[in-house]
Amino acid sequence: PRKIIIDTDPGQDDAVAILLALASPEDMDVLGITCVAGNVPLDLTSKNARIVCELAGRPDIRVFAGCDRPLKRDLVTAEHVHGKTGLDGPDLPDPTMPLAEGHAVDFIIEQLREHAPGTITLCPLGPLTNIATALQKAPEIADRIAEIVLMGGGYFEGGNITPTAEFNIYVDPEAADIVFKSGAPIVVMPLDVTHQALVTKARNDAFRALGSRVGIAVAEMTDFFERFDKEKYGSDGAPLHDPCVTAYLVRPELFEGRHINVEIETSSELTLGMTVADWWRVTERAPNATFMGKLDADGFFGLLTERLARL
Ligand code: BDR
Ligand code: CA
Repeated sequence: PRKIIIDTDPGQDDAVAILLALASPEDMDVLGITCVAGNVPLDLTSKNARIVCELAGRPDIRVFAGCDRPLKRDLVTAEHVHGKTGLDGPDLPDPTMPLAEGHAVDFIIEQLREHAPGTITLCPLGPLTNIATALQKAPEIADRIAEIVLMGGGYFEGGNITPTAEFNIYVDPEAADIVFKSGAPIVVMPLDVTHQALVTKARNDAFRALGSRVGIAVAEMTDFFERFDKEKYGSDGAPLHDPCVTAYLVRPELFEGRHINVEIETSSELTLGMTVADWWRVTERAPNATFMGKLDADGFFGLLTERLARL
C-alpha cells in the first residue's frame, strides 16, 4: 500500500474520501490526517475529521490541526454548501479522540523527512495552505514527495465559487501557486472530473442499502449535499469531488487526463484562483501536472460502495 497523508477540510465529500481511504488498507496506509481551514473554520474541520475517523472505527488515526487561514487572504468558507457544521446531514456524536499534538505542517515535514524519498503521497482535499506552508518551511521536501494527488481547479467546466475559480484553489491561490510550482509530481482532480461523479438517487440508495452506520451516514451526507446542487445547478445529484482523489489511488484506470502545464492566477480580480490549464499545449510552458478530464462514473461508484461496505 501507498503511504498517504490526507490534508482536508471536512466537508461531506472530504468525509467520504477519508472513509474510502480507511476502508482500503491494501491500497493506502493513512499515516495521518492534517486539517486546514476551508469549507468551515479550522476548529470545525479538525473536529469533523475526528468524527469521521470514529465513524470508521479508527480512533487510532492521528489527526492534526493546521493552518487556520490562507497565506495572504481572509478565509472564505462554504457553509452554503456544507451547512453550519461542515458535516450537516447525519447526526453523528462529538468525537472523543483527542487531536494529535503538534502542528499539521510540522507533521507533514517530519513524515517526509523520516520516510524514504518517493514513498509518501499527499492527498489534499481542501485549500492548499498546509502543503504550501510545509514547502516554504522545508523546501527540500518537494523532492521527497512521491506524488500530490489533489482535488482542485477546473478548466472546461469553469468554476464553482466564481465563474472561473474552484473553491479550494480560490480560497488560497498563493498556496496553490506554490504547490504547482514546487516540482513535485501532481495529479489534479478538477471539476471537469468531479462533476461526472454525481450521486444520483440510485447511487444514494445503494449507500443506504448497505444498512451499516457508515452506509447510512454517507447516504445522509450526500443527501444534504445534493439538496444544494439540485437547487442551484439542476444536476442529477451532488458531485462527490474529494473521493476522486482516494479512488484514484485504488483504481487510477477509472480516470483519464493529460500531463500538461497548469498555472494559477493570483492577481486578476476577475479570474483570481483560476487554474489555467494548457490542455491543447498551445504554450511552451513545461508540463507540471496530470490534469484529469474523464471519469468512469459507474466504476467509481461501484468501487466506493463496495469499499464502504467493509466499514
Ligand atoms: C471542493 O470544495 C469543497 O467544498 C469540497 O469539499 C471540495 O473539496 C469542491 O470545489
Ligand atoms: Ca474538501
